[in-house]
Amino acid sequence: DAADTEKGTYAHFMLKEIDEQPFVMRKIIQEYQDEQDNIKIDADVRAAMLAADRIYIIAAGTSYNAGLVGKQIIENLADTPVEVHIASEFSYNMPLLSKKPLFIFISQSGETADSRAVLVKIKSLGHPSLTITNVPGSTLSREADYTLHLYAGPEIAVASTKAYTAQIAVLTLLAVDTANAKGLTLDFDPLQELAIVASVMESLTDQKEQYADIAKAYFTGTRNAFFIGRGMDYFVVQEASLKLKEISYIQAEGFAGGELKHGTIALIEDGTPVIAISTQENVNYSIRGNVQEVAARGANTCVVSIKGLEQDSDTLVLPHVHPLLTPLVSVVPMQLLAYYAALHRDCDVDKPRNLAKSVTVE
Ligand code: G6P
Repeated sequence: DAADTEKGTYAHFMLKEIDEQPFVMRKIIQEYQDEQDNIKIDADVRAAMLAADRIYIIAAGTSYNAGLVGKQIIENLADTPVEVHIASEFSYNMPLLSKKPLFIFISQSGETADSRAVLVKIKSLGHPSLTITNVPGSTLSREADYTLHLYAGPEIAVASTKAYTAQIAVLTLLAVDTANAKGLTLDFDPLQELAIVASVMESLTDQKEQYADIAKAYFTGTRNAFFIGRGMDYFVVQEASLKLKEISYIQAEGFAGGELKHGTIALIEDGTPVIAISTQENVNYSIRGNVQEVAARGANTCVVSIKGLEQDSDTLVLPHVHPLLTPLVSVVPMQLLAYYAALHRDCDVDKPRNLAKSVTVE
C-alpha cells in the first residue's frame, strides 16, 4: 500500500509508526479471529506448538526484547518452557537442546542474517521452525516450516516500534491458542484484552506533549540514563534503553531493579536520569525501594506506574490493562521519550548513524 510508506503530516516515520500501534492491535485482532470469535491459527502451527517440549525463541535487537516478553506470556498461559536466545550467540554457542524443540524466529524484516544462520543450522538438525514476521515473503518466512504474520504494515524508521508491540500481541494469541488446544482453562480473553490495550495505546498517543516535556526535563544534556524494572518491567526497560540509545545516542542501560546495588549503582551521580517502570503488583514495593536508593544518591528519578499501583509522586500513571500485557502499553511512553529526546538533541530520528533497518550480514 503506497499510502503506508508516506509520512503524510508526520515529521518522522517513527512518530507515525508509534501512532499506528492501536490500529495494528485492532488489525491483529481482526486477522487472528474466526467467525465464532475464536483465535484463528493454522492447524499445522498449533500441532507444532503442541508437539514441542520446549520452545527456543531466536531473534536480534528489538525482536529479541519482544521475545523476552513472549517467553513470560507463553510459559504463563500455555505452560510450555521457553528459552530466548540472541541469534548471533546461538550460532556458535548452542545450548543443549530438549528432545522435541520448536524454534520460533521473531523478525520484523525476516531478513536478519544472524537469525538465518540459526535457521539453516537447526533445519540441518531436523528441527521444526516457525517465523513470526512482518514480511511474509521474506527469507526467514520462506525457509521456515511455518509463518505467522504481524500485519503491522511497512515499518520504515530504523528504530522498531509497532513491530515490537505486534510481535507481543501475536505471541499472546499463539500462547492462548496453544493453551486452548492443551485444554487448559484460562481466565483470559486475549481478543478482549488486546482491544483494551488498543484503546489505552490511543489514550497515550493522544497526549504526546507531556512526553516532549518529560524528555526535555530528563534527557537534554545528559551523557547517560538508566531504566529499571523487575519481572515483566525488566524486559520493557531493556527495550526502552535500546530505543533511547539507537536514536538519541545517550548511553542507556536497562537493569533489573534488584541488581543495581551489585555494581551499577556506582554510576549514579547528581542528576543521573533513572526511569523506573512499575506495572506488576508483586514487585511494586521492591522497585520503589530501588527508586529511593538511587534518589538518595542524587538521581533524577521518573516513575511510570499503572492504575491501581500508583503513588502521588509518579510521573505517569498508565490506565489499567491485564498484567501480562502491560509491556504493550508501558513501552509506548518509552518510545515517545526516546523520540523526543532524539528530536531535542537534533538527531536524525528515522536514520540513526551506524544502524541499518535490516542487517543482512553476520
Ligand atoms: C536491526 C535493526 C533493529 C532490529 C534488528 C532485528 O539491528 O536496526 O531495529 O530490531 O535489526 O531486526 P529484525 O528485522 O530481525 O526484527
